[in-house]
Amino acid sequence: MPPTLKIAPSILSADFGKLNEEIASVESASEWLHIDVMDNHFVPNLTIGAGVVKCLQTKLVKDCHLMVSDPESLIADFAEAGTDYLTFHIEACENPEELIAKIKALGMKPGISLKPKTEVSAIEKYLDQIDLVLVMSVEPGFGGQKFMESALLKIQQLRKLKPDLDISIDGGINAQTAKLAREASANILVAGNAIFKAENRLEAIREIRGS
Ligand code: DX5
Ligand code: ZN
Repeated sequence: MPPTLKIAPSILSADFGKLNEEIASVESASEWLHIDVMDNHFVPNLTIGAGVVKCLQTKLVKDCHLMVSDPESLIADFAEAGTDYLTFHIEACENPEELIAKIKALGMKPGISLKPKTEVSAIEKYLDQIDLVLVMSVEPGFGGQKFMESALLKIQQLRKLKPDLDISIDGGINAQTAKLAREASANILVAGNAIFKAENRLEAIREIRGS
């Protein structure tokens, strides 16, 4: 049995000028909160750091997705900011085992993310050490991009390897693509535009959940 389905609104698509109000508008229908951290180096965009994460008022699980070239230099600050799950990109990491151990030692749950062109084989040997795999279904950097179906096969491969693992899919998730992701056995659905740009955000979350 795969772990339970969780919806993770991505605040990248929210109004950064009133983040706590934006979070409050989705909190009752969600389990996790997805926070995109970009450094304008690993990806061509710049977003928020640990100082902002610390100010977020929420009961949701704080799921921080580091799209940065030097994740190790940031992990202590993110632990201090109250991060629950800290995910780094395998493409940005020279010594994943060491980073995983450090994330755990700081009291967070480690996750690894894969860009669309990175295969599951690149992280297979770390699967027993981590709590989450985040499969990108768009090139990281921006919200509102088109879903890439190649992510679905990776999710099926991962589920076969680790039936109990939390597997997240991120990028282009809406009511239609969420159905494909659920069928492929992703259990954490990240969505930015489809939730925060919807006329009725709670209804949009229900549609992504498929209930
Ligand atoms: C993209 C980010 C995503 C982004 C998804 O690099 O990692 O989390 O917020 O946005 P949508 O759901 O609009 O594709
Ligand atoms: Zn993300």
